[in-house]
Amino acid sequence: MSKLKPKPKTQPQSDHKPEKKHRQETLVARYGVNTDDSHGAVIPPLHLSSTFAFKKFGQKGRYDYTRSGNPTRDQFAGALAAVENGSGAVITSSGMSAVHLVTQLLQPGDLLIAAHDCYGGCHRLFSAAVRKKSFDLQWLPLWETQLSAEKIRALKPRMVWIETPSNPLLRITDVQAIAQTANEAGALVVVDNTFMSPAGQQPIGLGADIVVHSTTKYINGHSDVVGGAVIAKDPALLEELSWWANCLGLTGSPFDSFQALRGLRTLSVRYQQHQQNAIAIAALLKTSELVDKVYFPGLTQHPGHETAARQQQGFGAMISFELAASEEEVPVFLEALQLFTLAESLGGVESLVAHPASMTHAAMSQRDQDAAGITARLLRLSVGIEHVEDLIADLEGGFAAIIRQRQGAQVRGVA
Ligand SMILES: Cc1ncc(COP(=O)(O)O)c(C=O)c1O
Repeated sequence: MSKLKPKPKTQPQSDHKPEKKHRQETLVARYGVNTDDSHGAVIPPLHLSSTFAFKKFGQKGRYDYTRSGNPTRDQFAGALAAVENGSGAVITSSGMSAVHLVTQLLQPGDLLIAAHDCYGGCHRLFSAAVRKKSFDLQWLPLWETQLSAEKIRALKPRMVWIETPSNPLLRITDVQAIAQTANEAGALVVVDNTFMSPAGQQPIGLGADIVVHSTTKYINGHSDVVGGAVIAKDPALLEELSWWANCLGLTGSPFDSFQALRGLRTLSVRYQQHQQNAIAIAALLKTSELVDKVYFPGLTQHPGHETAARQQQGFGAMISFELAASEEEVPVFLEALQLFTLAESLGGVESLVAHPASMTHAAMSQRDQDAAGITARLLRLSVGIEHVEDLIADLEGGFAAIIRQRQGAQVRGVA
């Protein structure tokens, strides 16, 4: 595709052939099982070796050096490509290195279209690349389908970057509609599927050319790996991405790949529990007097609800909400929580709460935060798989702390 198209030096990281007859749960539970010829290990072994012996002079085996290719990383890549319906995957050292890798497909003068409420790290990377004139950038509200489609037809971008649901406001982009317009305009369509995971959304089936993941999140699912992945629909694109991954040295470590494949095997059961809990928590927030707005695509009032219901399986487990409280009361709520840990990241089995304005999206300027709708009273929940009643009691404890503080202030005021 790009004029700089390099000659591939290495094999693409995975050359899996999708097994159409099996469903996602079976594919990931069984991927690579019983393939160890050395000792008959049921689960494919972890190959940590950085280098691999040549068969003889001038004749290397399938692998020569782990930056370029590694059997454990290939297992993970193959499993992920299978569930995302891609021709293969490149496993990277983080979600951001996956994002960076995809931007290598752009050249100076190419236009990237993205939504301004994308993940703060993507916002920072795209903006910095534009300052270096690596490519041009146009922010668009991609969740507004008609307006965006018109702009895409007029601007003829090289790439359209979709994040749906978006971070942190859970806006929904109609992937099929935007992808069709973008493809007709000659653009590559990339979907960051981190928030849904392949258990909840398969963007290639909706028209995407490339899927990006921070595998740090739902795919690994246990908050003990930082990793990323790029899945390509087209083998030629996969080859080009694999070349760049090796060239830039941003491939993921074998150990992280081993862990993340283990996580992927249980994704669908975790996902079911995550999203059931999220539905109950969104209902609680909706009725709380201390909540102004709830952003959760599972609520019928959410503007993207119908699109989400059509293109997703379930509504995920990320919820954002605005406290009906002063900025000073936000820490009172957060400090009273015992189960929701105040921390960046998402998608682990444990519940987390984040304050996007000062944490995940702190790299955005005030103006950009305002444009994206990120206020100082906005909180984001990553709902875990703990017992839902414990999670509800924890949030109620946070609201009670605000009320107690208000009552205390009133008493002090009277005295
Ligand atoms: C939607 C999205 N994309 C990409 C990333 C970057 O991933 P990582 O932190 O693994 O580099 C994140 C991280 O939070 C994210 O939420």
